[in-house]
Amino acid sequence: MIDQSDILAALRWHADIGCDEAIGDEPLDWATLAARPAVARAPAGASALPPAAARPAPATTPRSAFGGPSGASMFGVATGSDLPLGASEAGASARARAAEARSLEELESALRAFDGCPLKATAMNTVFADGNPAADIMLIGEAPGEDEDRQGKPFVGVSGKLLDRMLAQVGLDRSKVYISNILPWRPPGNRSPTQAEIAACLPFLERHVELIGPKVLVPLGGTSAKTLLNRAEGITRLRGRWFDYASPGLSGPVPVLPMLHPAYLLRNPIAKREAWRDLLTLRQRFPG
Ligand code: URA
Repeated sequence: MIDQSDILAALRWHADIGCDEAIGDEPLDWATLAARPAVARAPAGASALPPAAARPAPATTPRSAFGGPSGASMFGVATGSDLPLGASEAGASARARAAEARSLEELESALRAFDGCPLKATAMNTVFADGNPAADIMLIGEAPGEDEDRQGKPFVGVSGKLLDRMLAQVGLDRSKVYISNILPWRPPGNRSPTQAEIAACLPFLERHVELIGPKVLVPLGGTSAKTLLNRAEGITRLRGRWFDYASPGLSGPVPVLPMLHPAYLLRNPIAKREAWRDLLTLRQRFPG
């Protein structure tokens, strides 16, 4: 006879390790499944990330090509040879599909049809974007959380509410900004995205930025800032400074102003003063 408190403890344990969604009607014992055939590795040196020429160059640090002889980037970004099996193929496939998209609608359809990121299997929704596609300001968060996953829109949970209040303080709202995320699918339990997940989805975000053609990019939080700028420094070093983002499909470099993530501000309210300073910096340069 199983005690009810044991069942509750087991449920709590599952929630604690990030299993907070049922994705099938029947439980599946993965341990008893036959090992899946290995996916062929990409040729040595192939990277899951876009070629160096297609990546943004940071404003203040001359960047070397992705992946030195060992395949490890000087900025600590994983490259083809240190990503899990199959990740390079996923990045290449994402790049090919994203490049074909000629409109936001085509890009969203391509993303929804893309199966190269395992997070899609555990997420309820693909979270593409919210806001005004014609806006000058494009905000880029990390990944959907539980509320975003349920509603299919970025920043609709508690951190989204704070973001809305912050934007309102400087005369902005969702009709004046465009919002997306590095990842369109929620990592289970809101864990941090892995480099393989980021590499698999990044080509879609890069095309997203090209199709929007914003006047300024605002990465929210460290994952977003480091990914967009290809830098290793943490957000406390990157925030409030201007960088450039370049991509072949953009008419020129786009200024980038990294800011602290609203979820971080909820945990560290004292840091709101920095966020306020960054918002003023943004509005001084883009008052429109
Ligand atoms: N945090 C993010 O980074 N993005 C969202 O959409 C929600 C929370």
